[in-house]
Amino acid sequence: MNCLGRMTIALAMAGAMLVPAAAWADGTVEVLHWWTSGGEAKAVGELKTMFEAEGGKWIDSPVAGGGGDAAMTALRARVVAGNPPTAVQLKGPNIEEWGAQGVLASIDDVAKAEGWEKVLPPTLAKIMKYNGKYVAAPVNIHRVNWVWANPAVLAKVGASMPKTWDEFNATADKLKAAGITPLAHGGQPWQDATIFETVVLGLGGANFYRKALVELDEAALKSDTMVKVFDQMRKLRGYVDPAFSGRDWNLATTMIIKGEAAFQIMGDWAKGEFLAAGKKPGTDFLCAPTPGKPGFILNSDSFAMFKVEGKERQEGQKVLARLIMSPKFQEIFNLAKGSIPARIGVPRDKFDSCGQKSMDDLKAATAANTLVPSMAHEMAVPRSVRGEFLDVVTEHFNSDMTSDEAVKRLAAAIARATK
Ligand code: BGC
Repeated sequence: MNCLGRMTIALAMAGAMLVPAAAWADGTVEVLHWWTSGGEAKAVGELKTMFEAEGGKWIDSPVAGGGGDAAMTALRARVVAGNPPTAVQLKGPNIEEWGAQGVLASIDDVAKAEGWEKVLPPTLAKIMKYNGKYVAAPVNIHRVNWVWANPAVLAKVGASMPKTWDEFNATADKLKAAGITPLAHGGQPWQDATIFETVVLGLGGANFYRKALVELDEAALKSDTMVKVFDQMRKLRGYVDPAFSGRDWNLATTMIIKGEAAFQIMGDWAKGEFLAAGKKPGTDFLCAPTPGKPGFILNSDSFAMFKVEGKERQEGQKVLARLIMSPKFQEIFNLAKGSIPARIGVPRDKFDSCGQKSMDDLKAATAANTLVPSMAHEMAVPRSVRGEFLDVVTEHFNSDMTSDEAVKRLAAAIARATK
């Protein structure tokens, strides 16, 4: 090979090496999220890998704390300091609230180019917009009202998955008598509220749930049904182990994995933990909708884009938004996260029995109008109102407050917060 030939090859190689560097300079994202448990970290790792494969630079900003309360505090501090992250795990009415503060960036051009309107359920599409323009991209649909169980532990008392709260209580009493912790729970306000809303749905049904936890109707909040909900919460308090206070949700899932407790009531991010531990649905763990009346409590994670300086970071937001909504990402991410795709039309064959049940039940709930947004996971009401629910529910759970008193306090707190 002559000298010219060698130079051509050398230049071509240098050019090839330059390509990623050039793209790298075009896309940087700092991503603030609260996905720090085993299953969660694996899932968000898929997004990082895909983003880096496109030549982007990913700066990870995790803020530990299930349910995201600590992450939201960190976000506020960053925005107040005038230094927001490029992309933030944010959801429900929070997107609208941040939009109203004028700090969110439009990704409407990406949404138009990729045809998001055609592939997103209208309820989710609406949440992702501010002033009619897309400012966030959804990654998944989580179902909150699941109960998880260890079948070997249930077999010790000859029990199967309960279909009503009375059945749940009867099984829990048997387990307790056999010296087994019936309910693995972490005593943190958002976890108490997660259980609470599944009891509201199970005892009251979807219409009651909507009246009480979405419309904040006073009569519903003060109703006999709400008294019964707190009665059931008191029962559940009797089924947790003495060390429940402050425990992280994923450690409660570990108790089920290890056979140290029978049930956990938690959204399907818990499935991400079972899977990350190599466990198989149907044999190592069971999933079923929480007992009582049917419905689907919806929780959808999304990434909102904040207004940032610099072409490189603005480009990064566009690349991230496009990747998030790609069918490939929606499949890979949700297989690890325990949720199902937010995007319509992603093939269902790789999803396990719990995932496919979630898809079927979502469809059925949409048709029957029993699809309701999660209060505990910030899909239903503003943060301030959610805070009032969490305070009363947690105080009741950790004291000997009567159900009547809890209902009275709840109605008064919500009236104050919405005045
Ligand atoms: C989020 C999930 C997360 C869970 C526990 C929920 O609010 O939607 O993505 O796994 O909190 O941190």
